[in-house]
Amino acid sequence: MTYKTLMESEIYEEPRVIEKILKDNIGIVERIKEYIKSRRISSVYISARGTSDNASTIGKYLIESVLRFPTALSAPSLFTIYNTPPILKDSLVIGVSQSGRGEDVNEVMAEGKRQGAFCVAITNDTESPVAKIADEILPCWAGEEKSVAATKTYLAEVFNLYLFTAILGGRKDLLISLYDMPRYIEEVISKSSEIDVTRYHFMDRCIIIGRGFNYPTAMEFSLKLKETSYIFSEAFSSADFLHGPLALATSDLPVFIFVPSGPTYIHLSEIISVLSEKHTEIFAFSFEKIENARINFIFPKRIEEIISPIIFAPSFQMIANNLALEKGHNPDHPRYLKKVTITR
Ligand code: AGP
Repeated sequence: MTYKTLMESEIYEEPRVIEKILKDNIGIVERIKEYIKSRRISSVYISARGTSDNASTIGKYLIESVLRFPTALSAPSLFTIYNTPPILKDSLVIGVSQSGRGEDVNEVMAEGKRQGAFCVAITNDTESPVAKIADEILPCWAGEEKSVAATKTYLAEVFNLYLFTAILGGRKDLLISLYDMPRYIEEVISKSSEIDVTRYHFMDRCIIIGRGFNYPTAMEFSLKLKETSYIFSEAFSSADFLHGPLALATSDLPVFIFVPSGPTYIHLSEIISVLSEKHTEIFAFSFEKIENARINFIFPKRIEEIISPIIFAPSFQMIANNLALEKGHNPDHPRYLKKVTITR
């Protein structure tokens, strides 16, 4: 098969990456589980930037709902600028970074180590600085990612967080669902490559809505549209959207919305009704037909909402890739960006 971009070819690699994580990372997570049992861990503290931060936000929802540990995303400036880090000694500290080279992420991990916290790195480079600081490494097994726009590494980070949560929480049902994902993702990639994006050729701004587990899905889709297609996209939790941003709704501001069939379905359907009264054009990602959607991408098989971020990812990544091409941009080399961004 020939690919139009590196980004597209890397999306097609996702099923194999996930298979490798299932094959090689279960033993590592089981070791982490044993270690955690012997320590007094009361919370989880995650550090990440960009795409990795969006993956980590899914991790927060997972860990809090399944393991019930309060989980915070770090404020790195407290470590790198203000020199006032929180107390981490009873936390599990997780650094999530595909490159493993972000100075701020590494400084959070190093401070966790100094305070005696147990530190885990989720990274695509097992020789990177973040891997060297960590007590345990969960590799992404994604191979080199050449496109500046992260796709397979995002999914690999997300998938590692699912595996981690399923095993630590003793959730066999979740673990069984993870084994279905490689084949399902293959189907989603092939189906989403056929989405006609020409309609959005002139779109330069949009809103993306998700709720709960898919709020980070909305954030990651928004980031992908910004960096590959230079679209001013803003992501909202559907709850927050009602607290002010709803006033933006017009017929010329498209809304993309993730609507899994689960606990958030009724609430999201209500938002769609409200938006359609304002003649907003809606693109819905869902598992069943959405009445008021102008475009409705329906996934081949219904899965539980908790796991839906895994299969939403390849679909919005493919749209971002194809829309960039439609607009005449190269998603592999967005203007001003490099593959590794070092911030403090
Ligand atoms: C990915 O599409 C972005 N270009 C960017 O957000 C990237 O994810 C971020 O710089 C974090 O990188 P890291 O995972 O290597 O720390």
